[in-house]
Amino acid sequence: MPEIKKVGVLGCGLMGGGIAQVSAAAGYDTMVRDVSQAVWDRARAGIEKSLAKFVEKGKLQAADRDAALQRLHFTTATADLKSCDVVVEAVTEDLELKNGLWKELDGLCGPATIFASNTSSLTIAAMAAATRRPDRFVGLHFFNPVPLMPLVEVVRTVTTSEDTFRRAFAFARSLGKEPVAAKDSSGFIVNLLLVPYLLDAIRAVEHGVGSVPDIDKAMQLGCGYPMGPLTLLDFVGLDTTYRIAEIMFTEYRETKYAPPPLLKRMVTAGMNGRKSGKGFYDYSVDPPRLSDLGL
Ligand code: 3HC
Repeated sequence: MPEIKKVGVLGCGLMGGGIAQVSAAAGYDTMVRDVSQAVWDRARAGIEKSLAKFVEKGKLQAADRDAALQRLHFTTATADLKSCDVVVEAVTEDLELKNGLWKELDGLCGPATIFASNTSSLTIAAMAAATRRPDRFVGLHFFNPVPLMPLVEVVRTVTTSEDTFRRAFAFARSLGKEPVAAKDSSGFIVNLLLVPYLLDAIRAVEHGVGSVPDIDKAMQLGCGYPMGPLTLLDFVGLDTTYRIAEIMFTEYRETKYAPPPLLKRMVTAGMNGRKSGKGFYDYSVDPPRLSDLGL
């Protein structure tokens, strides 16, 4: 099998931008595909800011930052990823959208190319089956913020070959991440446990168990979590969490995965968290203040 030299990234939102950053920083020539230059400009600004923080903290040399930025390329054409050795997909949690991209790439990439999805809640099998390379398909699930969170879940589905799994595991390590093996079950390890906790925090708000800041404070100071659950929801994105919850609820039919009505109302109102400027907190001011949730 050829050595991995060139990495493709589909989508450069919160996760795709972070994945592109760690890939380029690890020395891989990285081609990022998204729908418009404007999306890329925003992602690149985030990457530059993050790399600048590492330089500021003495964790990265300025020359290495510059080299990483040079290794990042952007395109709107999926076909430009055809010579990549690994393609990591991080587009919206929409199976049809993901499989449309995979089908297009399947006919373009060489037989050795590994396809990897960063899906949070869909099964890898549902994507692998749409391609002619189900043996060369894995899950590589990163965590937000990708440049800081050490974990990657490497997901093997029923069709993934031993060689592909081993190469994907080694690839995650080469990005400076700590990989764990996970079964192809919706939510894998982390979201299976994290999503019900986050949804329960919203239910606690709905039931008036505590105020938003007190629920956050309680879990930070009582359990040693780095962020309270409502701050974390704003950070991950309420729209993203809503989509994940819907997918997991459909998969397991268990009420613990059902999106609470408040989450739905907030997403409908465009309160998607930090990225939209407003979620449980309002980020238009510094420091952020509590949002009016109409409760
Ligand atoms: N790049 C580089 N440096 C960064 C950065 C980035 N993107 N973001 C923050 N930093 C730096 C800050 O500048 C800061 O540096 P300093 O110590 O020199 O001031 C340092 O990291 C710590 O940041 P902050 O002081 O702002 O905040 P914290 O100490 O709270 O750390 C955090 C930030 C690492 C995000 C921490 O709060 C945390 O671990 N939060 C939980 C995140 C989490 O649970 N992620 C998983 C979400 S679930 C998921 O992604 C799965 C998906 O499928 C839904």
